Amino acid sequence: MNGKQLVAEALQTVLPDWSLEEVDVKIERPKDEKLGDYAFPTFTLAKTMRKAPNLIAAELAEKIDQTNFEKVQAVGPYINFFLNKSQAGAAILKEILADPENYGARDLGHGRNVSTEYSSPNIAKPMGMGHLRSTMIGEAIARILEKEGFKPIRIDYLGDWGTQFGKMMAAYKMWGNDADIEKDPINTLLSYYVRINREAEEHPEYDEEGREWFAKLEHGDEEAKRLWSWFREVSLERFKKVYGMLDVNFDSFTGEAFSAQMMDEPIRILREKGLLVKSQGAEIVDLEKYNLPPLMVIKSNGTSTYITRDLATAMYRKKTYDFYKSIYVVGQEQEVYFQQLRACLKEMGFDWADDIVHVSFGLMSINGQKMSTRKGNVVNLEDVLNESVDLARKQISEKNSSLKNADEVAKQVGIGAVVFHDLKNYRRNPIDFSLEEVVKFEGETGPYVQYARARGESLLRKSGIKDFSDVDLSKIGAEEWDLVSFMGRYADTIQKAMETYDPSAIAKYSLELAKRFNKYYAHTRILVDDVDEDVKKARLAVVQAVSHVIKSALALLDVKAPDEM
Ligand code: ARG
Repeated sequence: MNGKQLVAEALQTVLPDWSLEEVDVKIERPKDEKLGDYAFPTFTLAKTMRKAPNLIAAELAEKIDQTNFEKVQAVGPYINFFLNKSQAGAAILKEILADPENYGARDLGHGRNVSTEYSSPNIAKPMGMGHLRSTMIGEAIARILEKEGFKPIRIDYLGDWGTQFGKMMAAYKMWGNDADIEKDPINTLLSYYVRINREAEEHPEYDEEGREWFAKLEHGDEEAKRLWSWFREVSLERFKKVYGMLDVNFDSFTGEAFSAQMMDEPIRILREKGLLVKSQGAEIVDLEKYNLPPLMVIKSNGTSTYITRDLATAMYRKKTYDFYKSIYVVGQEQEVYFQQLRACLKEMGFDWADDIVHVSFGLMSINGQKMSTRKGNVVNLEDVLNESVDLARKQISEKNSSLKNADEVAKQVGIGAVVFHDLKNYRRNPIDFSLEEVVKFEGETGPYVQYARARGESLLRKSGIKDFSDVDLSKIGAEEWDLVSFMGRYADTIQKAMETYDPSAIAKYSLELAKRFNKYYAHTRILVDDVDEDVKKARLAVVQAVSHVIKSALALLDVKAPDEM
């Protein structure tokens, strides 16, 4: 039984009119650990009991059975509970050691589907740091959802449709070199695109050619189709290389082109409901009652837009996955756009529009510089990851030159460092990226957390103990409490991260756990002769539990945990 359940039961015996669940939901975690492990506010009792909350708290605290607690104390309108440390600590440790993989998991989802769209780079354009943010935040959210019993459907909504593909084809027909494309598809195709845009100023006929090629593509012209799928394939291959480095796997790569085939349905509904209004030749949906700018669905030249594809996409996902929630991990700059999308779906009569969640995030700058594709000021994600791995390899060889699988560990540390950095701040805050800061072994970094755990693992190896099943866990004492009680907060932390779509809650938790562990490790004698054998084993069990929980927390963030580094 965990600490909170003990508190709920003790309270319920003195509140016979209440059910266990009713008591349970009212129990809080005091912000300050000095105020106890749990607290129960008595405000809601004041009305029925016709007494001041302070008095109620004092009276109830008197009556409560204290056997399982060190102390039960009324402070103002609160009853504060201090758990019996060795007993409660032993219970937490036992739960972790019995099933480390599932520790902290809850079945809140009952297997319900959550459509989870993230990454979503554009074909023939490099994947930038914004796409990295989307990829990492999205992957972490998917993992957190899984932990809580939901079934995330991982979708990479590729930007593989639009007039720019017409331009790309026109450019290819003029300057294309197949060997260059095979060698470095994304940069080569991008260079054609940049060139045709530049030269179109002097050759306006290029724009016309671009439009014609896109029209051909829309009408299923064989050559246009062939070029489109070739460009798409070579680009996707490069993206998949990056996903491989990050250990991210999608269930679906259906992008804008797939949705472009399904646009009749949303347009029909919009027309039937009289929602399309003519405006300067275009057709728009008025969203004034939502205080939002109007949405252009059909352009004056009759072609549909990005939003029409998104309307079709949203409907397709509802039909295919019958989602509980439909998440879009996309940058902050598209905030209004997603509000419009949701409002438009609502106007169309879909009550599930409210289940659309835009998980937005702030910009990432690099060494203080803003990134911009248009200005050519982009960094290549693959290069960043490779540089980070090199830096990690250098640091590891200084620290531990005899490490056997140094290359593999350098990958786990270097890539983990970039990912951790991306996730440790609240997603909507802007962040700056500097490789030197990110790969440090001290400070609030991924390697710091990984290293703390590796130290623990090394101690466990030295001890030679692998099985903790018959260790007397109640041998732990006050020194362990800070660390062990904090591990008891893991499940609540995951739940909060899930409810707020905020992986940083997990990253911060892992940092704090690593910090507490390092402090414990520095102050507590473990593998020494004059420590009682049973106490020694209980302490090692604590180390083992910490290692499990750190590994689990890092896994939720898609960061690996090497046993040695
Ligand atoms: N491809 C877009 C970009 O790179 C992101 C797609 C966002 N998702 C959506 N359903 N509109 O900016």
